[in-house]
Amino acid sequence: MSNCIIAPSILSADFARLGEEVGKVLADGADWVHFDVMDNHYVPNLTIGPMVCEALRKYGITAPIDVHLMVRPVDRIIPDFARAGASLISFHPEASEHVHRTIQLIKSEGCQAGLVLNPGTPLDVLDWVLDELDLVLLMSVNPGFGGQAFIPSTLEKLREVRKRIDASGRPIRLEVDGGVKADNIGEIAAAGADTFVAGSAIFNAPDYAEVISRMRSAVEA
Ligand code: DX5
Ligand code: ZN
Repeated sequence: MSNCIIAPSILSADFARLGEEVGKVLADGADWVHFDVMDNHYVPNLTIGPMVCEALRKYGITAPIDVHLMVRPVDRIIPDFARAGASLISFHPEASEHVHRTIQLIKSEGCQAGLVLNPGTPLDVLDWVLDELDLVLLMSVNPGFGGQAFIPSTLEKLREVRKRIDASGRPIRLEVDGGVKADNIGEIAAAGADTFVAGSAIFNAPDYAEVISRMRSAVEA
């Protein structure tokens, strides 16, 4: 699949050297930067906010920044991320009072919009908003931490969402996040994903370029 996007999750990067780490992973072949925002409320962990996104832009990062919001309430932080240089903003339906309104807010701020489905979230939340979305993100772990194991039922879910996206006729990306490694990315791609978040598999490896190229070959095989 030549359409494949690899989006390293900076959750597993060395935060003390974040600019350098992001620059390196992009130079080593990554396409997007996956930016995990956790609030110790919607999820049991606390990470980074718009100031860090803006700092990456000021540092000279020009690649798309794929912001994954795990915060509740979600709407009030969206304009801040748009101003900070986010390219795409995704959120969880459970964290929004009005899912359709939140999607419109993201787009009105000039960003692309994504909806994130947890492993236990049914697909019917997509029914009346799929046509408004630029991306669907299926979580293959419960959100909150890097380094968890891929939940196998995600494969069936991916196949189902792939059918819905193809039926829509729109260029909606299908992203998967959690437990993605070089040795399972092939079957994840075969199930229909085209955009792959990987945190620990990339940032815990000694050679980012080597693992990214192995991932890409497995997807394109
Ligand atoms: C989990 C985050 C993920 C996480 C993935 O809540 O959304 O992006 O960093 O990490 P790995 O690839 O290590 O499972
Ligand atoms: Zn994420």
